[in-house]
Amino acid sequence: MNEKLAIDGGTPVRDKFLVFGTPTLGDEEIAEVVDTLRSGWIGMGPKVARFEEQFRDYIGCSHAVAVSSCTAGLHLCLVVHNIGPGDEVITSPLTFVATANVILHQGARPIFVDIDPHTLNIDPNRIEAAITPRTRAIIPVHFGGLSCDMDAIMDVARRHNLIVIEDAAHAVGTRYHGQLVGATPGSLASFSFYANKNITTAEGGMITTEDPVAAGKLLVYRQHGMDRDAWQRFQVRQKDFCDFVAPGYKYNLTDLQASLGIHQLRKLPSFQDAREQLAAQYDAAFDELSSVQRQFRPTSAGDRHALHLYVLIVDTDQLTAPRNKVIMALRAENIGATLHYTAVHLLDYYQHLGYRRGDCPVAEHVSEHILSLPLVPTMTPSDADDVISAVRKVLTAYKR
Ligand SMILES: Cc1ncc(COP(=O)(O)O)c(C=O)c1O
Repeated sequence: MNEKLAIDGGTPVRDKFLVFGTPTLGDEEIAEVVDTLRSGWIGMGPKVARFEEQFRDYIGCSHAVAVSSCTAGLHLCLVVHNIGPGDEVITSPLTFVATANVILHQGARPIFVDIDPHTLNIDPNRIEAAITPRTRAIIPVHFGGLSCDMDAIMDVARRHNLIVIEDAAHAVGTRYHGQLVGATPGSLASFSFYANKNITTAEGGMITTEDPVAAGKLLVYRQHGMDRDAWQRFQVRQKDFCDFVAPGYKYNLTDLQASLGIHQLRKLPSFQDAREQLAAQYDAAFDELSSVQRQFRPTSAGDRHALHLYVLIVDTDQLTAPRNKVIMALRAENIGATLHYTAVHLLDYYQHLGYRRGDCPVAEHVSEHILSLPLVPTMTPSDADDVISAVRKVLTAYKR
């Protein structure tokens, strides 16, 4: 007989709610924040510069520009390439709404190209058919931490003279053909350090690029269009005043935030190991379940899924409950399951813009069957066992 689900009044698998995406912060981060507070310089200053340098060295890229969020970074990349009204930007529908919103902020139009059902990333074979004379850029999204097929994307971009801006929100630590995401020649990448990301500064982001001209513009545009920032002015005690050479934004990171980033980046290899161990535990259990499918995971040495998200795609044909009910039942079992994402073109505002169901059938199907399970370095093997037990319990109870 099936165990009674907690959602129906049964006993939950665990007593304490397992929160999705808790940050992993330690004494080093706390001490660094205190040091910054005591230093008298809490805005953008030496610690942002240090974090940028460390990030640049880690990625192996030429330029790293810290910003207030990945969203701000994506927006700035469009700004410095003058993407505006009348332009089209190709992107994935299976993403956080920010990826598409920044295109709208510039008065341009997002063109959603359907995803590959195995990688859950934009299907490179469909991009060319979506290119028009108005297409200016492609924003590939490395969904969950799995790199897009960058060789194919860069090839199509070169042939059509398009800018590539990678949404690398999930991709700190992602490898593609031996190289970390963020070091692809000819593209810009924007990373996220939001609270639940693989490394965090509470809010924050980083743009990386090999292009010195774009990097120079990003530095100006991230802080009001100022020709030099406050820390540079302070260091040289300049007598003259700064000038404003562009209508820039207030998108800078602060030293308080960088204080976290400096230590988070150092700890990233251990975070990655922990994620991999927990994911292996999940894999072994979920391989036996016929009603779930997992995202493709590369096995070659030069490629690495950063495991920002661990997603299952549930085959609701085998179940008596829709995906949302499965998520609610898992939450009742005290497992913080959640959804990434409803396909952007199905969201209310995008429907008002004229996007329609049927535009991207693969993304629509995935977005209605996908769920994300908790996967953070602070979890113990016993926490992962609870997640596995809850998934088994819920799927067994709802089995057709
Ligand atoms: C795919 C994707 N792109 C962009 C963002 C925006 O990142 P941020 O919150 O740093 O602006 C997120 C955040 O969750 C995301 O998941």
